[in-house]
Amino acid sequence: MNPEITLETNLCGVRLPNPTLLASGILGTSAALLERVARAGAGAVTAKSASLEPRAGHPNPTVISWEAGLLNAVGLANPGATAQAGILRDARSKLATLGVPLIASVFGGTSEEFAGVAQVLAEAEPDFLELNISCPNVGDEFGRPFAADPQAAAEVTRAVKAVVDVPVIVKLSPNVADIAGVARAVEEAGADAIAAINTVRGMAIDVRAARPVLANRFGGLSGPAIKPVAVRCVFECFAAVSIPIIGIGGVSNGLDAAEMMMAGATAVGIGSAVYQNGPEVFARITHELATFMTEESYRSVKEMRGAAHK
Ligand SMILES: Cc1cc2nc3c(=O)[nH]c(=O)nc-3n(C[C@H](O)[C@H](O)[C@H](O)COP(=O)(O)O)c2cc1C
Repeated sequence: MNPEITLETNLCGVRLPNPTLLASGILGTSAALLERVARAGAGAVTAKSASLEPRAGHPNPTVISWEAGLLNAVGLANPGATAQAGILRDARSKLATLGVPLIASVFGGTSEEFAGVAQVLAEAEPDFLELNISCPNVGDEFGRPFAADPQAAAEVTRAVKAVVDVPVIVKLSPNVADIAGVARAVEEAGADAIAAINTVRGMAIDVRAARPVLANRFGGLSGPAIKPVAVRCVFECFAAVSIPIIGIGGVSNGLDAAEMMMAGATAVGIGSAVYQNGPEVFARITHELATFMTEESYRSVKEMRGAAHK
């Protein structure tokens, strides 16, 4: 790699060896998997979202793969906050020796529950807490996600910020009319960073059987199909807030990562590409990003950030 180039990234004062990170819900279910992804070259790793009590998730099928990405309705299957804290504690020590930060992901049905889960997970000393206020697949149980409403999103952020002392990332939904308004509301409520985006609400129908393919009927779309939606959301958030943004959605190569950063992302989350091609994508994507930077004479990822906002 060109020695003149630095991929090192500073996210809320935490050093990432490179700007690519594992998005929540993909391979983030055990300490061994999180370590494997870190060793494969991720600049940070996000664990699966955890709720207060264990959740079995939705019945199968929960994930379908199609030409342009995935449609999933996993339904936030997780072992519950206490067990998750154990996984995070295990992962933390392994990741610290690799210099790869750990992001814990929090889910709750109320702002009090978010705060409760955040406190339990914070005891495992992750580098960040990410608030998943944007899962589109549990609406039958929990109603509209908090990310659908600026005030509700701000209330959850405030409740968590009041009880933990670790940088808080708030993960936003693309399934809203004005994502910039939600970004502004969580920034005012004390969010340290924003992650954009969670999946886009979608559906697939088996026309031979004349019924929805997913047992849950609706699911979250991810992968290359949503990249333009994600780039637009990051672009709009960057223009609205001054806290850092983690750009997520459809990134599968180095040019996608550069595009996300030019829209305004400080770091780039990768989910479906890892699900479909394994953790090896991290080394490939950072290599492609470095090659692009050499070709275009960018010396640091910082120089690319927001470059499309001229
Ligand atoms: C199978 C699957 C499970 C997911 N589970 C979570 C989750 O638990 N928490 C969360 O915040 N996002 C979850 N997501 C959303 C991803 O973190 C990411 O925001 C989304 O997939 C867009 O990125 P991508 O196009 O790179 O996959 C999940 C996505 C997939 C495909």
